[in-house]
Amino acid sequence: SVGAQASLPQMGFNNWNVTQCGDAFNEGMIRGIADKFVSLGLRDAGYTYVNIDDCWANGQRDKNGQLQPNPRRFPSGIKALADYIHQRGLKFGLYSSAGTSTCETRENGGFPGSLDHERHDAATFAAWGVDYLKYDNCNHMDIDAQQRYAAMALALRASGRSIFYSICERGENEPWAWAGKRPVDAGSWRTSNDLSDVYASMLENFKQNVGLDRYARPGHYNDPDVLEVGNGGMTDTEYRSHFSLWSIMAAPLLIGADLRTIKPEALKILLNKEVIAVDQDPLGIQGKQVRDIDGIHVIVKPLKDGSRAVAVFNENDTSREVAISTTVIGLASDAPYTLRDLWAHSQVKGERMLKVQLQPHAIAMYRIRQD
Ligand code: DGJ
Repeated sequence: SVGAQASLPQMGFNNWNVTQCGDAFNEGMIRGIADKFVSLGLRDAGYTYVNIDDCWANGQRDKNGQLQPNPRRFPSGIKALADYIHQRGLKFGLYSSAGTSTCETRENGGFPGSLDHERHDAATFAAWGVDYLKYDNCNHMDIDAQQRYAAMALALRASGRSIFYSICERGENEPWAWAGKRPVDAGSWRTSNDLSDVYASMLENFKQNVGLDRYARPGHYNDPDVLEVGNGGMTDTEYRSHFSLWSIMAAPLLIGADLRTIKPEALKILLNKEVIAVDQDPLGIQGKQVRDIDGIHVIVKPLKDGSRAVAVFNENDTSREVAISTTVIGLASDAPYTLRDLWAHSQVKGERMLKVQLQPHAIAMYRIRQD
């Protein structure tokens, strides 16, 4: 569906954080993920894209110069996989690089990139039923980034299929300044290096992304990378902070854990509809950091219904008791407010000050309104 919904941050899955280029990355796994989207209620919660990353391709193009899948991982072909995903009411994403080859070189001496093959590859993607392209930045031969990313943008537009364009330039050439505008016009752009499944990495990517709020607008979002929720390297408290921060930053919500084996507590985080609703709010505004003192971050995101989402995050290794004046959140100082706690799913009333107790690395997330 094109329209309002298409301009919100994309939601779905990407296999990279789970498998990288390991043997587990194959069509059986990806079909299993698509099945779980349906059976676990993820599709109904808004998760739409099932995306595959580097190492899907064969080491060589075919004799006509067309990309082809690795026959060991995808013996049925990419079209059949896209069909399988579409039959479940989902969309399918593929990966390439704006370079001579992709980033991964461990197998077969690397996989072909799309530099100078943009038209041909975009046409192939369209013919296979690809709905989304993640476009990486390796082996770029020092050719100007805007030029390389524009070339694929034009090729996708000429392909005759609507293909979501996700740029993985990783912030080297400040993509926030140009990726959301024509001619590149990407739906999202990575703002940092790869996220890994440790708290320090999550904190780093959050800090890099949070100050870029003015560059995001409906249909064009900063991307701090695929989620690590459920991969086991952080505590549930940290995963709640991770998911809340990404949501209040209107970031893409791409699940990076194996949904076939995910723990119930992690799944519960990914299925928190009140937090997802903040990410997916129709205004499409990235939350703004209004306070950053002593490792306490306050981020505020205006919402369509006139309320505001507020996240109060304690990055410290020790607990904190925080009191925030409602004027910091942008509310009037003299009128009472109603506060909805998006993790406790409870409601309270208050005035003037917002008082929060936070464990180490914990977040509180609210929807606050004043009538
Ligand atoms: C680098 C990107 O940043 C990652 O997300 C992933 O796509 C790898 N490349 C694949 O090689």
